[in-house]
Amino acid sequence: MALYSEKVMDHFQNPRNVGKMEDADGIGEVGNAVCGDIMRMYIKVKDGIITDVKFITFGCGSAIASSSMATEMIKGKPIAEALELSNKAVAEALDGLPAHKLHCSVLAEEAVRAAVKDYYDKHGIQYDPAIFGCDDCAKAHEHAAET
Ligand code: FES
Repeated sequence: MALYSEKVMDHFQNPRNVGKMEDADGIGEVGNAVCGDIMRMYIKVKDGIITDVKFITFGCGSAIASSSMATEMIKGKPIAEALELSNKAVAEALDGLPAHKLHCSVLAEEAVRAAVKDYYDKHGIQYDPAIFGCDDCAKAHEHAAET
């Protein structure tokens, strides 16, 4: 069996929604400290729907394929659905990734969530910091509320 599925190869060689978005409503940038790969995700939002998505990934083929697939999975979807996108769902949509490449799909999940968080922050939209699963963010919010 080939190491990479046809879908991974397709999305790596012909990535969808690649590029910078000048008028993004939210931008999420995440990285993996171990491999050094970086993923940036841009979203455009209207009436709670992600109307457009773009990404730039400085990383491995699996990270590029994961970003590309993630953009297709959240485009046209409500924000709530995008927040539920898991790395597992991205990897499954790509017909699997080798075990040592699963972290690449984690970057895609994190980049989508970071872009939504940035959208919320920039537009003054209240949210429960716990939905981003980030204790530091929760603490920062508590601190901001106290001061
Ligand atoms: Fe790190 Fe793929 S090797 S994102």
